[in-house]
Order: sequence, then C-alpha cells, then structure tokens
Amino acid sequence: TPTFSVDPEGYMTCESVRIRDIQDSLETSPVYIYSKAQIENNYKAYQEALTGLDSIIGYAIKANNNLRIVELLRSLGSGAVLVSGNELRLAVKAGMDMTKTVFNGNGKTSKELEFAVECGCLINIDSEFDLEHIATASKKAGKRANVLIRINPDVDPQVHPYISTGLASSKFGIRNSHLQWFLDRIRDEDSLVLAGVHCHLGSTIKKVSIFKDAAEIMLGFISEIRRQGFDTLKFLNIGGGLGIDYERLGENIPRPVDLISTIRPQLVEAKLTIIVEPGRSMVGNTAIMASKVIGVKTNGSKNFIVTDGSMAELIRPSLYDAYQFISLTEPGGEVDTFDIVGPVCESADFLGKERVLPRPEEGAGLAVMDSGAYCYAMASNYNMKVKPVEVLVDGSSWKIIRKAETFDDIMAAYN
Ligand code: LLP
Repeated sequence: TPTFSVDPEGYMTCESVRIRDIQDSLETSPVYIYSKAQIENNYKAYQEALTGLDSIIGYAIKANNNLRIVELLRSLGSGAVLVSGNELRLAVKAGMDMTKTVFNGNGKTSKELEFAVECGCLINIDSEFDLEHIATASKKAGKRANVLIRINPDVDPQVHPYISTGLASSKFGIRNSHLQWFLDRIRDEDSLVLAGVHCHLGSTIKKVSIFKDAAEIMLGFISEIRRQGFDTLKFLNIGGGLGIDYERLGENIPRPVDLISTIRPQLVEAKLTIIVEPGRSMVGNTAIMASKVIGVKTNGSKNFIVTDGSMAELIRPSLYDAYQFISLTEPGGEVDTFDIVGPVCESADFLGKERVLPRPEEGAGLAVMDSGAYCYAMASNYNMKVKPVEVLVDGSSWKIIRKAETFDDIMAAYN
C-alpha cells in the first residue's frame, strides 16, 4: 500500500495513522507529516540500484535539513552533500561519515572552508578564486584537502530555468575551457589532492538520457585528466536531480535503478566510485503539509479555499509555479473547482490553482502532497508566520521531531 492513502471512511492516512488524528492532537497548524517507511524505501532504492558498484549516496541536506531525518538517513548508511557551513555543522551533529560527505557551492567562505578541511570532507572546486581559497584554508588547517572539480557538461536538463544548473552559462562550476589551468594549479599545489570530478545538471529531471549524456561527457574529461597523470582521481559525482511524480498521473518517472543502469558499464570499466547527490528523490514523496481550512469564499468566477498554510510554509507553487497535488484529509461535500490560498498578504500566495475538490467544511484538513523536499527547508517568517511543527510517523505511532517555532523564538533575536 502507498504510504499516504485513504481509509474506508474517507480519511487520509500516513502508514497506519489518520492525518486528522495528528491534526487534532496538535496545538498548531499547519503541520509537516513524514513517513519513516517511505524514507527507508527511498534510501533502499538507491542502495539496491548501486549494488556491486563502489559508491557514495550523498543525501542533499538542502532538500530537508531536519536533524532527525538526516540522522535516520545516516543510520541507513547515507553520506551527505552540503552547501553551507551550517549544513556541515548539522552533518557533523548527525554523525555523518566525512569520507562520504561533499561540500559544494559557488560561494564558500574562508571560514567555512577551514572548517571543511578540518572535518576532512570532500570539497568541490567551483572557480579560480574558490581553488585559491581552498588551498589557503588547507594550509591554515595544516591538512591536505581532497577536492573535486565541478565541471559544466553543458547538457540541457529541460526543467524550469531557476533549477537548471549544468549549462555553460550557469553561475556554478568552472569554465571548462580553462580546465587545464585548474589541473596545472592543482599539480603545483601540495595542499590539494584531486579526488574527482563533479557535475549537477538541474532538478526535477524526468529523462535518464540526460544523465547518460552528461556522464559520457564527464568520462571524457576523466580520461584526459588521468592521461595527465592524476592517479588519485577516483570519484565521478553525477549530482542529484531525479524528478518525482508531483502530478500523480502515474507518469513513468525514472527510478534510481534506471539512472544507474545507463552508466553502470562505463563506471565499472573506468574503475570509478560513483557519487550520487539525491535530494528530492530521497525525501520529496515522504511528507505532506497538512493545513486547516479557515473558510471558503467566492469572488467573481473563482472559488477560494483559504487555509492556514501559505507561501510562508510552502513557497514552491508561488516561486516556481510548481504543481503539488492537493487533497482533503477527510470527506467533503459537492465537488467544485477551487484555488487553494493562504492568509499571506499578497496574490502570489497560493498552494494550488483550479483544483477540483470536494467542498470542505471550515476546520477540515487539507494536504499538500509530496512536501518532503524544498518545502519546510524554504519556509520563512513572512507576515511573522512561524516555521511549522514536524511529525514523523512510524507504523501506528507518531512523534514530534521538531517543535513549531514561536513568537518568542522570533523575539529572541532582539537585545
Ligand atoms: N547536488 C547539487 C549540487 C545541487 O545543487 C542540488 C540541488 C542537489 C544535489 C539535489 O538535487 P535534487 O536531487 O534535489 O534535485 N528549490 C528547488 C530545487 C533546487 C535544487 C537545487 N540544487 C525546488 O523546490 O524545486
């Protein structure tokens, strides 16, 4: 059975728990509700896809930085991919193995880099200045840094421009025509050890051929780099980016095994350790954001369901025009077409448009599906709204894994 389902009385469930029961027990709304089983299943799908290969699964913490979720993934064997010093601190707190951890980013500060070198994680080189900053940090820490060069394979991921990253004009990665400069500089720099190459094409990718094309381009770079005598190179990091079925149309979204199968023979032949950096495909479908209906209104030709959840807690629809499936968590009335909006004071505040749903009662529960990735993590305090409570369901039990933020928490920053 799917993790999120509907019971015979018409109530939505997560594993064996009714969403409505969780909503009724909590003092605040909205709430993020995660399924432990779904997280485990997603991890296993990567693990099984990589069977027989030397590999690192580097969970992209940016997708969801809940400490308990990061700890759960670590306990399953996951490494991590980080994009800030604080994500690195979180990874350390979660007990992540630093040899399975990659620090990535186009604007890593000197302070962050010194910490990264001390921790001993892998570090991506993103530019000329970044290389110099890593070398300086490494000398200061008195420790060599294992580095990967982030290359732009210039393959179009065919996704929203805001989440497309691997093109030649991207703000990430090196100028490929300047690769020789990087190789020469690393060769001359004792503090740097060239451990591999990295690329990341973009996010929500639905075609494995895109990964295959990129991997082949990367393998070309690897042969050239090895030909120049860099025998320490062992990692091909193909980034993250696998899409998920937000539309729930039963589309054929590639699975981790489809992705890995297309490049398995090349990896074996080149004796490479593959690094994957899944975020969305690891945690995206593991959660919902459940809110409560404040009221239903009609203006002009439009019906609106106004909920206590908004763009402050879940910004993807407003920011990327992203589609996430929406359902009531309990039975409703006559079916009609509604825009689902929050109370935030601007028209960009919507969770879904033109959705066909049973008309909900005031106080009814409403779930935005597939909210495990880039939802809580991108929540803000806009309109002085607070970060919502997060709950983890495990079979027939559930517990709060992060409390809701409070007004006092926000006030604590003032002196
Ligand atoms: N590795 C790197 C270098 C990345 O930049 C990203 C995501 C990932 C891995 C993980 O990608 P994923 O497997 O999750 O697609 N906020 C946007 C998504 C931004 C993705 C940024 N990079 C959204 O809500 O759709």
